[in-house]
Amino acid sequence: MSDKKNENGISRREFLTKGALGSFLVAMGGATVGGFALPKPTVSPGPSRRYKLGDPGKFPVGTAMKMDKENIFLFRDVEGFYAITAVCTHLGCIVVRVDDGFACPCHGSRFAPDGHVVEGPAPRGLLWLEVSRTPDGGVMVDADVEVDLGTKLVV
Ligand code: FES
Repeated sequence: MSDKKNENGISRREFLTKGALGSFLVAMGGATVGGFALPKPTVSPGPSRRYKLGDPGKFPVGTAMKMDKENIFLFRDVEGFYAITAVCTHLGCIVVRVDDGFACPCHGSRFAPDGHVVEGPAPRGLLWLEVSRTPDGGVMVDADVEVDLGTKLVV
C-alpha cells in the first residue's frame, strides 16, 4: 500500500496518528486537571447554626418563646432549658404552638407539648436540639445537634 504525502510532506496515516495522539493528550490533560479538583469539597459548609442567647437570667422559669428566624421553640421550666425545632418532620413546614402542643398548618400533623407525634402524617416527633452553656455562662442552642427527647440543660 502506498503512503501518499500531501504538499507539506505529511501522509494521511501520519496526519491521523498525530491527530489521535493530540486528542489523547488533550483528554489526559483534562482528566489530570479534573483529578486535582476532586479532593476539594464542591459544597462549602453552611453558616453555623449555634445561637447564643446570652444570660440565662433573661429567661425566667415558664419561658416559652419562638425564635422566629431560627424556627426554634425555647422553653425553660423548673427542670431547665430545652429547645424543640419548629420544622415539621413530614415535609418541613413550620409548626405553630397550640393549646395542646404543636400543629402543622400544611397537612394537619399534631404534636404533643414535648414534640412527639399525636397525629400524622408526620413520621416522627419534633426534634429536640442541644441547649448548652457558653464559656461566658450564657445559654446557647445548637440547631445542628439533636438530643434525646427530655434532655434539658440544668442551670
Ligand atoms: S409538613 Fe407538616 S404535616 Fe406535612
